[in-house]
Amino acid sequence: MPAKHEWPFIIVANRLPVVRGKGKSEGTWRRSPGGLVSALTPIVQNSGGAWAGWTGTTGPAPDPFVHDKITHLPVPISRTQLSSFYDGFCNGTIWPLYHGAVREPNYHRRWWRPYVTVNRRFAEITAKSAAPDASVWVHDYHLQLVPALLREMRPDLRIGFFLHIPFPPEELFGRLPWRRQILEGLLGADVVGFQTQGDAQNFLRMAKRYTEARIEGGWLHIHGHMVDVGSFPVSTDFEHYNEMASEPQVVKRSLQLHQQVGQGRKIILGVDRLDYTKGIDVRLRAFQELLARRPDAVRECVFVQLAVPSRGRVGEYRELRKHVEELVGQINGEFGEVGLTPVQYLHRELPFDELIALYRSAEVMAVTPLADGMNLVAKEYVATRFDDTGVLILSEFAGAAEELKTALQVNPHDVDGLAETINMALSLPEKEATRRMSRMREVVSGHTVYDWADSFMQALSA
Ligand code: ADP
Ligand code: F6P
Repeated sequence: MPAKHEWPFIIVANRLPVVRGKGKSEGTWRRSPGGLVSALTPIVQNSGGAWAGWTGTTGPAPDPFVHDKITHLPVPISRTQLSSFYDGFCNGTIWPLYHGAVREPNYHRRWWRPYVTVNRRFAEITAKSAAPDASVWVHDYHLQLVPALLREMRPDLRIGFFLHIPFPPEELFGRLPWRRQILEGLLGADVVGFQTQGDAQNFLRMAKRYTEARIEGGWLHIHGHMVDVGSFPVSTDFEHYNEMASEPQVVKRSLQLHQQVGQGRKIILGVDRLDYTKGIDVRLRAFQELLARRPDAVRECVFVQLAVPSRGRVGEYRELRKHVEELVGQINGEFGEVGLTPVQYLHRELPFDELIALYRSAEVMAVTPLADGMNLVAKEYVATRFDDTGVLILSEFAGAAEELKTALQVNPHDVDGLAETINMALSLPEKEATRRMSRMREVVSGHTVYDWADSFMQALSA
């Protein structure tokens, strides 16, 4: 393994792109699922680069290792840091604040200090590992201080930062006791990228308001350093989803699902991490409202909600799980018939091809987050509809709504409006559904996750 100052390109993210196998594959690493890892993997592989991140296990980190032609630089996180840095500052302060304060953010100094310490650790490992003049691409809200720390340690580096979640407006961001430190941390980058124009505008306003940065010629200038701020909407691997969707085993499985789960009814699907930003509870209440208005709808449609376990140590996530499971029980108890369940709920991860088969089996996909940086599930559903069928219901507050304009867009807080939209989706004329879907497919195929990564890398090397 090369020693110091070796890598010409480094991705820095809270998690490494691999997870440790369980059961029989204990002790081995496998690639983490998801579009981000698929998009960044070839760039890191082709550039002879490395990836710095946490393994997902607390305690001392393993030595750097190579997997899938990528050097992994594990960053240690202790058990106490996990609760103060990850559960605390990342997911108890920044996550709710940046998602429109849909839950009350907590501001604790005992969480802020470990955030600084962990960010410093990421910066130190990266600084030690980057070759002279290397490019470093830092990701997401866990590591907002890394750009400035890294610039201080290694002024020769080109540093990019991309935020995967929304950047809030002043009335929210201004509440953060450490707003100046966060902004100055981000301004250490040469390029700061956001999901939407709105996020980038919010950031520019906050930087001007709370730091010494000034805008000149479309760039932010601070302490003699120029920062390019822009929007780079993340996307999905369109071709991969599109091709997988017509694989014989996926086609077979989706028909089977339709028979077993649909039992002749249309399938309305929700696929989310079990997170309070995703609007799962309001969506279920809207379905409940639809059944209350039209009890016969129980013979026309079934709601399948897939909820991936997430951040289970954080109180709000545990409460949400309880609430969602109670709602599912209520709806099934009230509106179900013998042999006919209105809501099918799964709380687990699914293998990739099972997820694609589910996307294919659903006539209606409901993506209704209260706030979301982008929402890849919406784009993945579109990518699997190779025959232009299917109706996407999409929250106005998902970043994807800027691009997927022909989705049935909804206010995800409006139970009545959502109930009406679900009803409308169920009876949307085929021609209209095809028109809407084919337009969305043009948009997603015209801007894939590879285009996203290319455009960011071009900005970084400009
Ligand atoms: P977030 O990043 O907030 O979780 P996104 O919608 O942008 O939300 O991304 C979620 C990712 O997780 C998608 O790539 C989706 O395919 C994947 N995913 C969602 N549910 C499951 C599941 N049950 N099993 C496996 N992967 C899932
Ligand atoms: O969308 C934000 C994000 O942090 C992603 O980067 C990540 O894949 C997802 O949420 C899950 O988060 P966690 O790493 O907390 O499980």
